[in-house]
Amino acid sequence: MPQSNIQTLSIIQPDDWHLHLRDGDVLQSTASQAAKQFRRAIIMPNLRPPVTTTEAAQQYRKRILDALPGNTNFEPLMTLYLTDNTPPEEIRKAKESGIVHGVKLYPAGATTNSDAGVTSLDRCIPTLEEMQKQGIPLLMHGEVTDPSIDIFDREAVFIDKVLIPLRKKLPDLKIVFEHITTKAAAEYVTEADGYIGATVTPHHLLFNRNSLFVGGIRPHYYCLPILKREENRQALLKAVTHKNSRFFAGTDSAPHAKGAKENACGCAGCYTASHAIELYVQAFEEVGELEKLEWFTSINGPKFYNLPVNRNKITLVKEEWKIPDELPFGHEKVIPLMAGESIHWKLK
Ligand code: DOR
Ligand code: ZN
Repeated sequence: MPQSNIQTLSIIQPDDWHLHLRDGDVLQSTASQAAKQFRRAIIMPNLRPPVTTTEAAQQYRKRILDALPGNTNFEPLMTLYLTDNTPPEEIRKAKESGIVHGVKLYPAGATTNSDAGVTSLDRCIPTLEEMQKQGIPLLMHGEVTDPSIDIFDREAVFIDKVLIPLRKKLPDLKIVFEHITTKAAAEYVTEADGYIGATVTPHHLLFNRNSLFVGGIRPHYYCLPILKREENRQALLKAVTHKNSRFFAGTDSAPHAKGAKENACGCAGCYTASHAIELYVQAFEEVGELEKLEWFTSINGPKFYNLPVNRNKITLVKEEWKIPDELPFGHEKVIPLMAGESIHWKLK
C-alpha cells in the first residue's frame, strides 16, 4: 500500500532504550511525559553525582516512581554509571537487585556530566569481565575524547581505537552502541560478530548537520554525538528499516532548561520525550517503510535485553499538529525538538 494512504497505525507499545529523566523538581514533568509515550525506558545515570551504585539506582528508581501520576504503569529500567573504580562486587549486587539492566560507559569528558567517567577502559577490565559473566550489557557513549580528533570523526575513531580492541578482549560482553550517528557505526553493528545492538535517536534519523545552522546557530539541534552529514543519516535510515534486530529505539531525550541551551556555552541534548514516537513515525514514513517501525520501536529492544515484548498496542493517526513552543521543566521551561513546527502523526 502506498504510504500516503495509511491514515492510522497500530503498533505494540514502544519502549525507550535510552532516556535522560534528570532528577529533583523536573522529574515530575520529564517522567510523566515519557510515560505517555513509552511503557519502559532505560534510564541514564549521568546525574550529579552520578548513579554509581545499586543502592543509588534503587533510590533514584523510587524517586522516579514517586514522581509519576497514579494512572501509569511506566517502568524505569535502571543503569549504573561506570567509573575507573567501579568494583566487580558492585556488578554482582546490580545483578542480584533485578532492577539494573545495564552499565553506562561515558568516556571522561565526552558529554554532559561525564567528568566522573572512565579515563581508560583498561582500568575496568575486572569489572567488565564480571559484566560479561553476569550478562549485564555495557551501554557505550561511543566517541573518543581526544580534542585533536575532529568532532565529526570521534564516533568512527572510537570503533577502531576502543570498540574493536575491547571486543577482542571480551568477546562475550553484551554491548549497546548508544545513539549511533554514522555510516561506519551502522555498518559495524550490522556486520560484527557476537552480541551487539545499537540505539538510534529520532533526531539523527530526521536531521543532518545543516539543521544546526539554518539562518543562524540552532542550539536546540545541538546534541552529542553531533548531527552528521546527510550520507550518514541515510545509512541510519537504511539500518533501522532492514528488519535487522540489532537496531532499536533509544531517544536520548536529554532535557536542559531553555537558558542552559540558549547560552554562550550551550548544553548538548535534544528534548524529544514528549513526541518521540511521532518523530520516529515521521522518519520511517519519509523512506516509505512504516511497516518496519514496530520491530525497531517495540520488538528488537526487549529481545536484546531479554525482556518480554509489551502486550498492549498504541494507535497513531495521520493528523497535522504543532509541537509546543515550550514545555514545563520544574520551575523552568524546556524547548522540545522542532518546537512550533508541524508534524504529521499524532499518538492517540
Ligand atoms: O546530547 C547529549 N546529551 N548527549 C549525551 O550523551 C548526554 C546528554 C545529556 O545528558 O544531556
Ligand atoms: Zn544520552
